[in-house]
Amino acid sequence: MILGIESTAHTLSFGVVENDGRAKPSVSNLFRPEEGGIHPREAADHHSNVAGELLSEVMVKNSISKSDITAIAFSQGPGLGPCLRVGASVARALANSWEVPLIGVNHCVAHIEIGRNQTGCEDPVLLYVSGGNTQVIARRGNKYRVLGETLDIGIGNMLDKFARSQGIPFPGGPEIERLAGNWLSRNTECSLESILLPYGVQGMDLGFSGILTAAIKKTSTHELSEVCWSLQEHSFAACIEVAERAMAHTGKSELLLGGGVACNERLREMASIMCQERGGESYSPNKGYCVDNGTMIAELGRKMLESGSLTTLQDSAVSPGLRTDQTIVTWH
Ligand code: ATP
Ligand code: FE2
Repeated sequence: MILGIESTAHTLSFGVVENDGRAKPSVSNLFRPEEGGIHPREAADHHSNVAGELLSEVMVKNSISKSDITAIAFSQGPGLGPCLRVGASVARALANSWEVPLIGVNHCVAHIEIGRNQTGCEDPVLLYVSGGNTQVIARRGNKYRVLGETLDIGIGNMLDKFARSQGIPFPGGPEIERLAGNWLSRNTECSLESILLPYGVQGMDLGFSGILTAAIKKTSTHELSEVCWSLQEHSFAACIEVAERAMAHTGKSELLLGGGVACNERLREMASIMCQERGGESYSPNKGYCVDNGTMIAELGRKMLESGSLTTLQDSAVSPGLRTDQTIVTWH
C-alpha cells in the first residue's frame, strides 16, 4: 500500500491506496479557528498536535502495519507553507525510518487522479472548486494545463467569507447550500431577476470578490436564504460556463468535479445538465474524495511510483506556489 499525507491548508489527512489502485477512505482532522479565517501557523500547530494520533488511526482502521507500506506520498504544494512543512516532515521521517521511497505530489493534480480512480473517467476536463483554488484543467501532452482560473479568491473562500459575514462558522459552503435549498423549497417560482448579482466570468477566467461584496449588501434588503440561493446560482453558473467552453475548445466529452465545493448538489446538478445538453458525461467522486484527503495523495503517489517518479530528500522541500502545469505527467 501507498500511504498519502495531505496538509495543504486546514485539513490534516492520512489515506492509503492498495498497489493495484483500490482506494481506502481517509482519516482526517480539520482545523476550525474559533473566530476569523485560518492563521497558517495555528493550522500548522494543529496538524503537529494531531499527526501521531491520526497516523495510528489510519493504520488501525486499515489493519496494516509499517511492513505493508511500500512508499510515502505527501502534498508538496500548492498550499500554506507552515502547514505543508508539517506533512513533509512527517513524510520524510516515516520514509527514512521505514526505508521506503518518498514521493512529493502536486495537490491539484491529486484531485484529478483520485477523481479518475473513483469514477472511471479517462481524459476529463476537471472543474476544481475548493476554498483556495478554482481552476478548469485539462491534460494536453505531458501536462495538465490550466485553461481558466480565478483571478482573485477561490469560490469556496468566497462562500466561507460570505458565511462568516452572516455569523455562520467555517466551513460556510454546506450551510449556504442548506439555506439555498430551504429558499427554493418555499419559493418554487422564484426568479433571479429580483436578486441579480455580478457574474464573474472574464474570458476563460473567473472572479469572486465582486459577487462577495454585492451579496453581503443584498442581505440588508433580502432574506438570507434568498441571497444564498442567488449566490450559488450566479457563482456556479460562471464555473459551469467556463468548464463548458473548455470542453468545446479541447473536444473532450468528460467533465470531472473535484475540490470541497464539488460536494454541492446544485453544482453537481448544473454540471450534469450542461454535459447532457452537449452529449457529454459529468462525473463526481464521493464527497470524501472531493474535499482534501490523504487518499488522493496516495493515489497520485502510486501512479508516480509506478512510473519511477520518486523524490530525493534534497528535492523534498515544500513548494507553496506550485502550479498545476509545473508537474510533468509521467503516468497514464
Ligand atoms: P484547496 O487546498 O484545494 O484549496 P481547501 O483547503 O479549500 O482546498 P477543500 O476541503 O477542498 O479544502 O474545500 C473546502 C471548501 O469547500 C470550503 O470552502 C467549504 O465551504 C466548501 N464546501 C464544502 N462543502 C460544500 C458544499 N456542500 N457546498 C459548497 N461548498 C462546500
Ligand atoms: Fe484541495
